[in-house]
Amino acid sequence: MHYDFETLVRRNNTGSLKWNDMKNKNPNVEDCVVPLSVADMEWKNPPEIIEGLKQYLDQSIFGYTGATEAYYDSVTGWMEKRHGFSPKKEWIVETAGVVPGLSQMVAAFTKPGDAVLIMTPVYYPFRLSVENNKRTLVTSELIHTGSSYEINFADFEEKAAGEDVKLLILCSPHNPVGRIWTREELLRIAEICFNNHVFIISDEIHFDLILPGYHHVSMGTLEEKYVNNCAICTAPSKTFNLAGFQTSNHLIADKEMRDKLSAARGYHSLNMMGYKACEIAYTRCEAWLDELLLHLDANKRYVETFVAANLPEAKVCNLQGTYLQWLDFRGLGMDYRELEKFMQMEAQLFLDEGYIFGEGGRGFERINIACPLWVLKEAMERLLEAVIRYRKRR
Ligand SMILES: Cc1ncc(COP(=O)(O)O)c(C=O)c1O
Repeated sequence: MHYDFETLVRRNNTGSLKWNDMKNKNPNVEDCVVPLSVADMEWKNPPEIIEGLKQYLDQSIFGYTGATEAYYDSVTGWMEKRHGFSPKKEWIVETAGVVPGLSQMVAAFTKPGDAVLIMTPVYYPFRLSVENNKRTLVTSELIHTGSSYEINFADFEEKAAGEDVKLLILCSPHNPVGRIWTREELLRIAEICFNNHVFIISDEIHFDLILPGYHHVSMGTLEEKYVNNCAICTAPSKTFNLAGFQTSNHLIADKEMRDKLSAARGYHSLNMMGYKACEIAYTRCEAWLDELLLHLDANKRYVETFVAANLPEAKVCNLQGTYLQWLDFRGLGMDYRELEKFMQMEAQLFLDEGYIFGEGGRGFERINIACPLWVLKEAMERLLEAVIRYRKRR
């Protein structure tokens, strides 16, 4: 092991959304507590990015700066190397983050009166991007199988066939349930959508965060007719902890759709530091990523083992991809609002509450395990102590 995945950089009073949110929720939170909510990592960035950016700062003038050939090569090169397909450079439409891109695409690809399909429970900005654009939201609930989730294809197909449904926003890998969709599942989704004239936005932002033994299948590796019917959202932000740079790349084979997004963006280029960070990440940081995945796997297993040994009231959903572990706490017998209060005020655990991802998430919690193992251990110990107190009062 070569990189530092042990050191915690405390981010209180730095503007970190996650750390601020923790303090807002519980102003009396103890100083030692680390929030495990919003999907960025409590690990330092790859040193190659920090050194590379320092050099870039020394050499640069901060004028209007667009993407360079080296940038586009780094993006297409990453897709070839890690995801097995070769997007053309002209397919890339950069946006200042995937979430802004989602919203811009919903606005650009649909018109008032159209409906957008999502599979719940799912990353809540999907719903917001539809509602904020005043389009109709249609949901297909995933089936909870106990230790994982499946797509309800009968329901999905019926919804996709709805006259007004023009767009699917797919989460692949799926946040928050941690599923990686198989090629068979993706083909079925692609086929249903193609047959029903539903365009797919495939949000693959977590595509590099694949646990050992699993394999992410990008929509970009499917048949050409399906690739032409989708926009693939990618970014270096989850993989390399670069969310603050707001740099994402949407791969869109269909020129008309690409032009629509470009027109809806309202800006011509991103922040120059984001471009450079992405280029360095995709060309010099593969070894760091491979090491990161081993730490994620160790953390995932630690939570599974700890819960199995100590918390019969909880069930851990099998994490295949993302660094967001999904736990079912319904066995505690609390209403989901009580559970939230219990976590934040009693266990001093700041997680993402399951209900924010849709009704099916009530009673669940999403734990961000991208932190030093010792931080996760402290969190799980606090949880156990709080549960023991709760058991005594019941
Ligand atoms: C599925 C998914 N899409 C998008 C984002 C955020 O994207 P961005 O920070 O590029 O706006 C997240 C962050 O958690 C996510 O889980």
